[in-house]
Parts: sequence; C-alpha cells; structure tokens
Amino acid sequence: MCGIVGYIGDRQAAPILLEGLKKLEYRGYDSAGVAVYNDNQVNVVKAKGRLKILDDKLDGGKNLPGTMGIGHTRWATHGAPSDVNSHPHTSSSGNIAVVHNGIIENYLKLREYLIGKGYEFVSDTDTEVVAHLADYYYNGDLIDTIIKVINRVEGSYALGIVCKDKPDELVAVRKDSPLIVGLGENENFIASDIPAILEHTRNIYLLEDKEIVLLKKDEVKIFNIDKEEIKKEVFTVNWDVSAAEKGGYEHFMIKEICEQPKVIKDTVSPRLKDGTIVLDDIKLTKEDVDSIKKIYIVACGTASYAGMVGKYVIEKLVRIPVEVDVASEFRYRNPIIDQDTLVILISQSGETADTLAALREAKKQGARILSVVNVVGSSIARESDNVLYTWAGPEIAVASTKAYSAQLAAMYLIALYMGLKKGTVSEQEVENIIEHLKTIPDKVANILNHKEKIQYYASQYFNAKDVFFLGRGLDYAVALEGSLKLKEISYVHSEAYAAGELKHGTIALIEQGTLVIALATQEHLFDKMLSNIKEVKARGAVVIAVAQEGNTEIEKEADFVLYLPQVDQLLAPSLTVIPLQLFAYYVAVAKGCDVDKPRNLAKSVTVE
Ligand code: M6R
Repeated sequence: MCGIVGYIGDRQAAPILLEGLKKLEYRGYDSAGVAVYNDNQVNVVKAKGRLKILDDKLDGGKNLPGTMGIGHTRWATHGAPSDVNSHPHTSSSGNIAVVHNGIIENYLKLREYLIGKGYEFVSDTDTEVVAHLADYYYNGDLIDTIIKVINRVEGSYALGIVCKDKPDELVAVRKDSPLIVGLGENENFIASDIPAILEHTRNIYLLEDKEIVLLKKDEVKIFNIDKEEIKKEVFTVNWDVSAAEKGGYEHFMIKEICEQPKVIKDTVSPRLKDGTIVLDDIKLTKEDVDSIKKIYIVACGTASYAGMVGKYVIEKLVRIPVEVDVASEFRYRNPIIDQDTLVILISQSGETADTLAALREAKKQGARILSVVNVVGSSIARESDNVLYTWAGPEIAVASTKAYSAQLAAMYLIALYMGLKKGTVSEQEVENIIEHLKTIPDKVANILNHKEKIQYYASQYFNAKDVFFLGRGLDYAVALEGSLKLKEISYVHSEAYAAGELKHGTIALIEQGTLVIALATQEHLFDKMLSNIKEVKARGAVVIAVAQEGNTEIEKEADFVLYLPQVDQLLAPSLTVIPLQLFAYYVAVAKGCDVDKPRNLAKSVTVE
C-alpha cells in the first residue's frame, strides 16, 4: 500500500520521481505528491486523484527544479484521499518533508504529545507525526534524528525524509514495509519496489528492518539503530525493464494472463531433473517430512486460493492433514502449532502484512516454515526457513493471475517432493505426473489461443447482477479464485460455492437468468456436477460449464460448454483458471472498468 521513491544526483529530480511513481501506482492511486529541494527550500506539490493529475500539474516534472527529492503515491488509510492528506507531509517549520508507507499505530499519542510541544497538525494522517517528530528531534544530524524517531514510533513504515538544511542528503528507513536502495553513478535512489528505478540501475540494496540509509549523490551508507555502519551485499536484478512494461497489450492484466505458459515453465522446469523433483532451495530431509503431523497453508486472497489447491494435492499425495487459513485469522486465533507442524506461507509480494505476521507467530511457536514467494529478497522470503521462489517475474496488475499459476505449480512441486520423501507416492507415479506437468504450458497456450470465445461470453453477460461459480473438489478451489477475479476487477457480485452445498441455502438466490459458471473437470465428481447443474437449471439459471475435452454429455445440461485440453485431473486447476481469468478480464473491459487499478484496492497490502 502506497509507493515511495526518492532521488539524489545531478539530474532534475521531479521527472525521475514521477516516472518512478508511475511504476509504483499499482501500490495505491488515490493521490500523489513530491517534495523537491531547490534554492534553500523544500517545495511540495501534491494532488488528489490519479498520478496523471500531478504529472500534468508539473508538466511531467519540468516545472519543478532541483536535483534531490522524494515522491509518494497513496492508498488512504488515515484520512480520506485529499490534497492535504496526500504525502509528502512537512513539519510546521517546513524544514522536514516525509513520505511514508505503512501505519504509525501510536500516532494519536504522539500527536497529542507534539501538540503539547506547540506543533500544529493540518492533516488527518498518521504520517504527519513523523514530520513533526523529526523536526522536534532534529539536531543537525539526520541519522541521529531518524534513530530518535523510530525509537518513538510503533507500527510499520518505509520512510523517505529530506531536510531543508541538508541539500546533499536523503535518509530512509524501513520496518515491515518494503524499501530498496538503488545504486547509480553519481546518483542514488530509494523505492518501494524495483520497477520504479530499474531503468536507472540494476544494483540494489535490500534493506532489513530498522536499517537506516543515508544517501548522498556519490555515497550510500547504512547504519543500525546504534548508529554503527553496516556493510551489505549488492543485489543485482536479473530481469529487464520490459518485464514491467505493457509491451503493446492494452492492460497489464491481459499481458500477465498471456505470460502464463512461460511463467509455469520457468517455475517448474529448473526443478525437474531425470524424471524427478529437485528442490535445492528446500532443506527438508526424509526424517523432517516423516515427522510432520500437520500442515497449515497460510496466505491472503488469491494466494490463499492457490493454497486451497495445495491442500487437496498435498493431502492426496502426502497423506498429511492440511488446513488452509487466511493469514488475518490465523495470526489471532491461537492455532495449535508445535515443531511437528509445517507452515507454508504463500505470497506474491512477500510483504503482505498479515501473512508476514502469521509467519512470525508460527515461528515463535516452533513451527517449521516454508514459503512460496515471488518477490526475491522480500520480507517473507528472508524470514522463512525454506523458500521456493515462483518465477513469475514482476506482476503489476492488481488482480493476480500469473502469480497464481506459478503458485499452483509450486504447490504441485512441493506435494510431489514431500510425497516422494515420505514414500506416499511411487517414483513411477511421480514420473507420470511430471510428464503431465510438462504439458501444462502448451495446454494453457492452447486455451489462450481461443480467448475470443470467452470474450464473446463476456460480451453477452457483462451486465449480470450476480454470478455463481460452482465446483467440487479441486474445481471448488478454482471457483473461489474465479469468483474473486470477477468481483475485484468488474465489481459484479459473485460467489463461489462447493456445488453440493448450494442447496443448503444459497440456491434460494438462483432465479430466472442468473448466471452460473459450473466447473466440471474432476472425473470422479462429474456425475455429481451434472446433477448440480440440473438443479440450478431447474430454477432458471443460465449455465456456462467448463469441462475436459471428450465429456460431451455435459452439453445436454449446460447452456454453453468450454472445453479444456485433457490433463491429469490433479493438474486441471492450472487449466481451469485460465478461462475464468479471461472472463473476469473481458467483463471488466466491457464495463469500462479500470482493469489494472480496480477501485479501493492496491497491489500489496502491507497494512492490517
Ligand atoms: O502479495 P500477496 O500474494 O501476499 O497478496 C495476497 C492478496 O492480497 C492478493 O492475492 C489479492 O487477493 C489480489 N488482489 C488478488 O487478485
């Protein structure tokens, strides 16, 4: 939530800040602002609304001189989106300007304290206390000041701070919110995420919690909370700028949907060797796997739905009970955990606040931790005992698509790996599933080649008021994801139901013309699904069914059928989700929605 960027160097800062913010707009987009030092002043310009408004106001940055500054794109937490609540926030004297991502939990107490010291507050934000507190503690040394500030604030933060008295310095610090440092030639950067600075440098520092960085144009120093200098390794980014560009597609979402064959291949191929699974990144011995009595899969949103697929697959192949929990519940419900528990965290960003807190809670209670993460070096990855990276590349659209597909692939790999270690699947069975797994990228590509059919259905039903997604077993897990995709980007109300559960209440909502998307890819549940389709048809529903090629019997019951290439039914979710993503996408486009930046949302939820 919220994106921050900072620049110090020889070039004009404002255009670089605005370009950086464009790459971070997925993190929040209700207002934006920049603060640039020039001529003994820190000039702040902010605007409510999309970044474009600020960009126009500043003529792409051209009319704001200065070579050092900070910028922010906001997802409101404290205080409605407005000019005054936008960042950067300044101290009353105008000496200090701050951008912040996160939440200062004790801001009310600090606000009272600072009002008592004569400070005047102009905004409703939690961030403004940081500007005044920094001003209050400022003694001519920005590192001393930051140390004092972070000793007082509670909560999560990535902060970028500039000071009128220090035209050659920019300081930053993080705790539980992402922040990286970009290292250039005679210029340096801070940013919430790599794409913001990738066109300028590939060399970055990944900051740890409470590491304070002092940037000058030709020098970067990092300190700990005791003001001791720390040496860090430079991390080199190995993907290129085009991975975070639209590349001719109308939206990032459709680009990312179309990248899925490659993403699945990139995630799976390096882990297959001689007909078996090799997960060098995971250090679980046979004894470790044998000792695991219980698995929790913990995640949020789409990642938790990938976890649902993981549950079915792991329980089938490894025969260990698996519970899937949304992280915001898991962290507060005192789950029963011990050293025989494996907790699998799934997260695209690796920064989701609830998932990170769940990880820390599980670790505290002695569980072993395995995380499935997309962003290399993110907090969840760094704090886990074992990490299996999904190689999906940067995912920019708020709606997750390719990350989900990569997470499914990771779930299959983990299940096969653990099943082999535990001896619950034979080498032959694993080899068979691997053969099927290898065919998935081509089969996904095949579905994508026929996307016009789904576009047609979307054009017919984009005005639907309610859509129900039904499925059994693995199809139910995918139905959850299909339904989330549709509601988050097209604002169509939709629900996913285990098809057998519908008649215990929800079927009352089915009326003449209600759209039902029925997933029927699971061979052993196919007849049951046919009965469920009949039930909703009898109440007037229009049914679009998704089934594997050859199961033509379904045509007698459903109004329309989308056939998927035949595949081992355990792997079917990797195919079934594709038409559902496309359907959500085309409905949102037909409704004129802002597909990549749906209302009220942000890409990574780094606050509770
Ligand atoms: O970065 P994460 O995978 O931890 O994010 C989890 C959810 O916030 C995310 O999947 C969210 O549900 C997406 N908007 C879904 O498209």
